[in-house]
Amino acid sequence: MARTLSKPKHRLKVSIQRRLRLPALSYRVISRQGTLKQIFLSKTGIGLTMASLDTGRMSDHHITETLYEGSRTLVSRATRLSDQRTVAVKSLRSEYPSFDELLQFRNQYTIGHQLDHPGLVRMESLVAAGNGQAIVMEDFSGLSLAKYLNQTLEAKRQLPLTEVLSIGVQLAEILHYLGQQRVIHKDIKPANILIHPQSKQVKLIDFGIASLLPRETQSLKSPNGLEGTLAYLAPEQTGRMNRGIDYRADFYALGVTLFELLTGTLPFQANDPMEWVHCHMAKQPPLVNDLVPMPLEVASIVHKLMAKSAENRYQSALGLKHDLETCLYQLKDTGTVEPFEIGQRDVSDRFIIPDKLYGREAEIKVLLEAFDRVANGNSEVMLVAGFSGIGKTAVVNEVHKPITRQRGYFIKGKFDQFNRSVPLSAFVQAIVARH
Ligand SMILES: Nc1ncnc2c1ncn2[C@@H]1O[C@H](COP(=O)(O)OP(=O)(O)O)[C@@H](O)[C@H]1O
Ligand SMILES: [Mg+2]
Repeated sequence: MARTLSKPKHRLKVSIQRRLRLPALSYRVISRQGTLKQIFLSKTGIGLTMASLDTGRMSDHHITETLYEGSRTLVSRATRLSDQRTVAVKSLRSEYPSFDELLQFRNQYTIGHQLDHPGLVRMESLVAAGNGQAIVMEDFSGLSLAKYLNQTLEAKRQLPLTEVLSIGVQLAEILHYLGQQRVIHKDIKPANILIHPQSKQVKLIDFGIASLLPRETQSLKSPNGLEGTLAYLAPEQTGRMNRGIDYRADFYALGVTLFELLTGTLPFQANDPMEWVHCHMAKQPPLVNDLVPMPLEVASIVHKLMAKSAENRYQSALGLKHDLETCLYQLKDTGTVEPFEIGQRDVSDRFIIPDKLYGREAEIKVLLEAFDRVANGNSEVMLVAGFSGIGKTAVVNEVHKPITRQRGYFIKGKFDQFNRSVPLSAFVQAIVARH
């Protein structure tokens, strides 16, 4: 559908694209000067994404070096001809990017562009490139922490403890800033952190799946289709914990990241997505000082970050920063860390009602016992009845944990009061969408 809105001075062409598969609308507004504005409305994304595009500006950049070639994205170093500055350019690899890819790409620019902190790579502009777009960023002559760690391990060395602590302090500061801006990154990992090899300054990149929602619920998805990186995924991001995602999901991923930097290995090893999901949900990670000798306090900080439920993690980035700094300063001064109680300065600045279920232990027990029986080969039907809003779904969702452990499937369907004419509709729904 396309129509032209004309007013005496401004002539705009507005085209509305409706995609069948996505509940999203995209509006393209082309002004007379040829600048293109696109507004995306999406239920799946952050609600509203807006970006302004300078058409044809990619020709202003001369690519000099490829920095990263991923399966979906390409990051290059380029010289901007207009001012001869070196910039980093991130673009999509696919020649015909899908609607989803474009939306995600734009999402990261919209969120990243608004942020201004020395610990974040500044996003300068979004330019048109082929059928997609490219993000022009500040060139921080650093390399990713993943590469940096690999180089260190290849040289048969470990990163010095003080260096990891200083990286941790910087990341805690960045997470504090993101918390203030109400942004959840959702994909903290060494590959998304750049480090300057000389100054050791770190910067966070990649807001590809970042969110502006204060709280999100991950719907149940097949583990192959989960957003984020399986090895660093907070339990609530698996969609199987009956818990919402908030800023504390980033603390978990930071815990895994610090674990990896300190020991050179990940806290969990798994062979397939379901196993990863199960590890994050149910397996206790080892303590870092079981693998590499180090002060107990450092190990406890990392362990606290990786707590399964968000209530047991740090509640504020400043509380975390204080503990890391205490360890760092003591190590620098005396070479050891005096025992101290961690989490003393950890005060949450928000009011959060925990997702924990209260007073449903007996009902959950009945369900879990039935699950254990059917896992041994029986079949049973359970009925959960109650008024609307009383908490039936919340109780039923508690079976996700044992199901993941047993590698079972959870399917669901709902008889909809407005869809009464379709026979057996809930069964059809359940069988078609398998998780
Ligand atoms: N501004 C930059 N300067 C230098 N290298 C960068 C920059 N941005 C990204 N990179 C490199 O590109 C890699 C992938 O970038 P990222 O934004 O994480 O892409 P993706 O969305 O594909 O994960 C990073 O791990 C890093 O090595
Ligand atoms: Mg990345």
